[in-house]
Amino acid sequence: MDKAKKRVFSAIQPSGTLTIGNYFGALKNHVAMQEDYDCIFSVADLHAITVKQEPEKLYMHTLELYAIFLAVGLDPEKSIIFIQSHVPAHTEFTWLLNCFTQFGELSRMHQFKEKSKTHSDNINAGLFDYPVLMAADILLYNTELVPTGQDQKQHIELARNVAQRVNGIYGDILVVPEPYIPRTGAKITSLQDPSKKMSKSDSNINAFISILDEPDTIIKKFKRAVTDSEALVKFDEESKPGVSNLMNIYSCATGRSIAEIEKEFEGKGYGDFKMAVAQSVVDVLSPIQAEYKRIISDKAYMSKKFTVAAERAADIANDTLRRLKEKIGFYI
Ligand code: TRP
Repeated sequence: MDKAKKRVFSAIQPSGTLTIGNYFGALKNHVAMQEDYDCIFSVADLHAITVKQEPEKLYMHTLELYAIFLAVGLDPEKSIIFIQSHVPAHTEFTWLLNCFTQFGELSRMHQFKEKSKTHSDNINAGLFDYPVLMAADILLYNTELVPTGQDQKQHIELARNVAQRVNGIYGDILVVPEPYIPRTGAKITSLQDPSKKMSKSDSNINAFISILDEPDTIIKKFKRAVTDSEALVKFDEESKPGVSNLMNIYSCATGRSIAEIEKEFEGKGYGDFKMAVAQSVVDVLSPIQAEYKRIISDKAYMSKKFTVAAERAADIANDTLRRLKEKIGFYI
């Protein structure tokens, strides 16, 4: 690995098929970062079990997400792309970091508070400890930059605080990471309720476009997308959130600017506009889906890639783990 390049770490949970929001907002950016950074990407299966999972589904979603990573262009030759539970150092490091994390600071995490409401029948210790596992993911790899969405910023802030606290006690042994919120990658919202983020776990399947949706489904969902009664393709997130969201999607899919899009659809109705947006998304997703089908049907190939990646990840992770254990005073 190139030492001159900054280390980047990010992960996504295998909790269902990703949406175009995940693609335009995160994955596409991860793919581009591989050129300039020393990147590590992980399928966060340990995080996924903080909410109830059916075993067959978790198993399938893990393989699916790994295949999607490769299909969109994350390259196992350039980056380390591994499955979190394959590197035991993550859970061991979490325990060590737990002892440097306060109950009070975990109690303040927004996501924990939200999930305690949405999963009120299963507020388990793992859900509470989720941010510490995430800190372990990040800190194990001497990560300098963590590309994520705005919703994870508080968790990264916690990882920074824990790293600084450990460094304050034992000397500078952990790298203090920075969040990296990409400039591009507009926030993609729900097609049915544009005030909400597009989410793969939305109970209304018309609210999101999955990366693996068939062209017919994509067209149908865009036709049903909520707009307004003005019949004017103009960007105004306040008074025209539905249309503005479709414009953002079209802009992400085609690379065209919002001004260019307003011009393109001057005098045209929403019917034409929606079809153009749908087609642009089909054009982006088709090659990804073809690649996905090829990869998911070749389990031996995937298995080779994630096995090698886990070994490379473990080399880095075990070194950090050992350094902290020594400092703490464990007899190694
Ligand atoms: N919690 C992150 C999410 O839901 C996923 C994640 C797990 C992650 N470990 C990470 C993201 C480490 C960045 C770095 O989006």
